[in-house]
Amino acid sequence: MFSARTRWDLTTNRLARLLEEKRARGETVLDLTESNPTRVALPAPDDLLAPLAQPAALRYEPSPFGLPAARAAVAAEFARRGTALDPSRILLTASTSEAYAFLFKLLCDPGDEVLVPCPGYPLFDFLASLESVRVRSYPSAWDGEWQVDLSALESAMSPRTRAVVVVNPNNPTGAFLKRGELEAIEALCAERGTALVSDEVFADYAFRPDPRRAPSAAHDGAALAFTLGGLSKCCALPQLKLAWIAVTGPEPERREALARLEIVADTYLSVSTPVQVAAPALLARQEELQGPLRARLAGNLAELRACLGHASPATLVEPEGGWYAVLRVPATVSEEERVTRLLEERNVLVHPGYFFDFPREAFLILSLLPSPDSFAGGLERVLADLPL
Ligand SMILES: Cc1ncc(COP(=O)(O)O)c(C=O)c1O
Repeated sequence: MFSARTRWDLTTNRLARLLEEKRARGETVLDLTESNPTRVALPAPDDLLAPLAQPAALRYEPSPFGLPAARAAVAAEFARRGTALDPSRILLTASTSEAYAFLFKLLCDPGDEVLVPCPGYPLFDFLASLESVRVRSYPSAWDGEWQVDLSALESAMSPRTRAVVVVNPNNPTGAFLKRGELEAIEALCAERGTALVSDEVFADYAFRPDPRRAPSAAHDGAALAFTLGGLSKCCALPQLKLAWIAVTGPEPERREALARLEIVADTYLSVSTPVQVAAPALLARQEELQGPLRARLAGNLAELRACLGHASPATLVEPEGGWYAVLRVPATVSEEERVTRLLEERNVLVHPGYFFDFPREAFLILSLLPSPDSFAGGLERVLADLPL
């Protein structure tokens, strides 16, 4: 009765079951996987949501790519980051996930392939399979810093590859692409007639400047490129459901892509009017919204560095940016066993590296978003579990 696309293992995994049981018993679990910025006690300005209630939000003006003022505000956002883009190149979606769905519909036939980074964001498997698209991964390796293995990326390309996805900075490693890496990937995409999809949702969250960092992929280079961003990360407002795609690259592909995407977007018209009406005011408050969040990330990262010290069996795989930290831990037990034991015996939840496709064990992924008390308490429990 059901499609192969939705043939998933629907049994609750052991960790999720254990968590449910603990919560049902009223036990407090320190959750170091929390990546929802609305659940970590960050202050929200009282009047933040007022722009959603403007009278203009009472009118429904269906527009496939979004209302002009909202698209102009997003274009201004790109300009702030150094790319002048006409608002006609911007289309709005309800989320970055929906942006991926639109792009996979645009670029791929069933059975086609997209290349995604490894380690990387676990949702790609679902986003691709829902469009009957296959995911192949290309590795980045840690060598004091993360580097994309460009020759492995080239080898992973096949005649069915329709897009190379880069996540800049990456989730969960926090690695930014360097100029040379982006240029090489763009050149490869152009040569093979493959689109580039650049997910820049975490672009504002760098821990330090680095002149080697690649600029946004949103410029008219040799490859057709789709650059993604959204309120969920840049304003820490995932519940408002507003994201965008900027389309850049050579003509006539760019024009054709926009014309086709307009029909995809017109089929769904999924972005609500209130959030589009509010977008200029919300984007204008980014700095104010990011401030406490940046302080939280930096504070938790400092706590992590302080707790690790020289004698610790765990080492921090230094993040350049993003919302997560990767800890390398002794592989004396499997990641699965470690995270289960941490939850079972110490009431702390962390992600195992394999969840993000780390090629070998043992890594733990910690969200840097939790409140300082939860983070410090959770970290203490994680470190107490490691052998000396
Ligand atoms: C790399 C990456 N892209 C996209 C998203 C999703 O963003 P949205 O809420 O806009 O779907 C996330 C969410 O964690 C993410 O980590």
